[in-house]
Amino acid sequence: MHITVVPASPKTGQAAIRALLADASNPIVRGVYRDLSRVPAEFRSNPRFEAVQGTVEDAATLDFSGSDAVFNITPPLYQEIEIDIVAHARQVSENVKAAVKKAESVRRLVLLTSVGAQYDHGTGEILTNHEAEVVLRDAAPEVVFVRASYFMENWATSLETLPAGYFFTTVTPVDRPLSMIAVQDIGSTCAAEALATGTSLPSNPHIFELHGPREYSSLDVQKAFEEVTGKSVEMRPVEKDGLDDFYAAVFPPKVAKEFTAMNKSFLEGGIMYEDPQPTGEKKYGKTELVEVVKQLLGA
Ligand SMILES: NC(=O)c1ccc[n+]([C@@H]2O[C@H](COP(=O)([O-])OP(=O)(O)OC[C@H]3O[C@@H](n4cnc5c(N)ncnc54)[C@H](OP(=O)(O)O)[C@@H]3O)[C@@H](O)[C@H]2O)c1
Repeated sequence: MHITVVPASPKTGQAAIRALLADASNPIVRGVYRDLSRVPAEFRSNPRFEAVQGTVEDAATLDFSGSDAVFNITPPLYQEIEIDIVAHARQVSENVKAAVKKAESVRRLVLLTSVGAQYDHGTGEILTNHEAEVVLRDAAPEVVFVRASYFMENWATSLETLPAGYFFTTVTPVDRPLSMIAVQDIGSTCAAEALATGTSLPSNPHIFELHGPREYSSLDVQKAFEEVTGKSVEMRPVEKDGLDDFYAAVFPPKVAKEFTAMNKSFLEGGIMYEDPQPTGEKKYGKTELVEVVKQLLGA
């Protein structure tokens, strides 16, 4: 099996490549990097891995020929001041679609998307995932959408404040359980879907949500930080009406607006909280939150 990961740099792309290279079926993996200096040493030395230069922003640079499957991630834009992130997601997805069609060998496209990507409004930043799903739903003979829940690695933002003994949480009320998934489980799930190319799908596109082994509240996150650091950690909740200011302090205004809307969409009253059109199928990862916190803290 020959699998292309595009773009290869995001942490979920790296996790998928790691899972593919560890698979007993010995697939050949091609990673597409906009900057080849970003290829991790652990992949560079593997004879079944090839890094190529290309960017989803330019279809002419994407060559998927010889691949059976493509694993695609819509790259998040955190710092772009003027860009319309939904229009950008549409364009990069169109570019990937064109490259898949051009490479006649590609039988399956696996797209990492998000819970809530079924909605065309009310989800802020998740609209980029919606747009990618709209464009890519017929990109290949077999299409799989993996709608991931909240990444456990999002708590990496707490690394800045933990040395001072506190962390902020935007998941409120603080005892409200939320589905969270580890990036390594996203990588192994998407790798397995790519490796299953050629097997029949229950539907096409095949769409499922990816959750962790259990749900966690902000109180559970606090407990995990305390368990791993061995110290007491203060939790500072950011309530719904404080989200605009909270995100405006870390992102440019346009991006902050989308992240605020995304955050509100999964809080009480938001479209994902109400979930009028739930995704039918769910799959579950194995990694517990405390394991990810240990990795984040290097413990
Ligand atoms: N965070 C969540 O809770 C969550 C939940 C569900 C779904 N998702 C979705 O998961 C995806 C995010 O995955 P992730 O966390 O793995 O991403 P990530 O690690 O944050 O990806 C950032 C990397 O993407 C690369 N990148 C940025 N712009 C690019 C571009 N225009 N072309 C190619 N590469 C570019 C950059 O790498 P280089 O600088 O090295 O090129 C950058 O370091 C998004 O589609 C997001 O919507 C996120």
